[in-house]
Amino acid sequence: MSSTREQLIELLAKQGGSFVSGQWISETLEISRTAVWKQMKQLEKDGYQFEAVPNKGYRIVEVPHKLSANTIQWGLHTKWLGKEIVHHDRISSTQTTAIEYAQEGCDHGTVIVANRQSNGRGRLSRQWYSDNDQGIWLSVVLRPDISPMKAPQLTLVTATVLAEVIEQISQTTPAIKWPNDLLLNNRKLAGILTEMQAEQDKIHYLVIGIGINVNQSYQEMDLSVREIATSLQIETGKTFHQTTFIQLLLECLERRYQQYLDEGFHLIKASWEQYAYKMNKEVTYQTGKAKQKGFIRGIAEDGALLMETESGRIDSLYSAEIDW
Ligand code: BTN
Repeated sequence: MSSTREQLIELLAKQGGSFVSGQWISETLEISRTAVWKQMKQLEKDGYQFEAVPNKGYRIVEVPHKLSANTIQWGLHTKWLGKEIVHHDRISSTQTTAIEYAQEGCDHGTVIVANRQSNGRGRLSRQWYSDNDQGIWLSVVLRPDISPMKAPQLTLVTATVLAEVIEQISQTTPAIKWPNDLLLNNRKLAGILTEMQAEQDKIHYLVIGIGINVNQSYQEMDLSVREIATSLQIETGKTFHQTTFIQLLLECLERRYQQYLDEGFHLIKASWEQYAYKMNKEVTYQTGKAKQKGFIRGIAEDGALLMETESGRIDSLYSAEIDW
């Protein structure tokens, strides 16, 4: 059971910018009017700002920048994504926790977010350095009613959303390196880890983990990735409000996800290709024994990379070593 304080924040946050009367709060939380007033004073000390108008009540006008389920939910304009948000200050991995929640039956759209992760996981069992509170580390649980064969498309939807939101927030244009790395100035800025549990024709759950390097300075990047990774702060010299970033991300993800379900993959494919790293450029790649050269021509409906070979044939690559 959450504390009175948490219940009060939740109550006010759910009202958005509308006024709620002290009487109503006191009845809903079953505490006295004086206790309501004392709680409000405590919240003010934590950075919340209220407007109090006689006969109308209270409303939140400013929430603190500190990341929490409530600060994210305050002003979040989504229908289902992030209706349930679980926030931890430090956790092993939001991905691992999200999978546990998914297995226990949590709702479609549940979001697990942490300030830092002690054991962040990347693709191919790699480590994802995130034991600092300067990035965005979150995992989303989805229960899409689509064939498991189409699941890779949702990673591409997410990559497109990340590119769009990063561009909107930072006025820099990232590149999506197939299948799902986000680069800025040729260095890794963000990554996506998609894991799912499915039967032959039904997805039980899909967990999409998103890691974005946001406010880290060069010195704050882990030594082992300092020369290959980057952050928005390093690239722009600016710092970014993580709560706003997450809100935009969730709003854009919900919108694009819905569009994908309603209209199919073609709009996502078009946006993905606009951001594609080395689009129409020549690269060297290896699928079998021999290395060969080819031109990147985009992605197929099933998420494969379309490569034009030297003989002019278009091949679909599902896994390949590419010398980027
Ligand atoms: C990659 O590029 O290899 C994918 C990185 C994914 C990292 C995110 S951070 C939030 C979530 N929790 C994890 O442990 N991993 C993902």
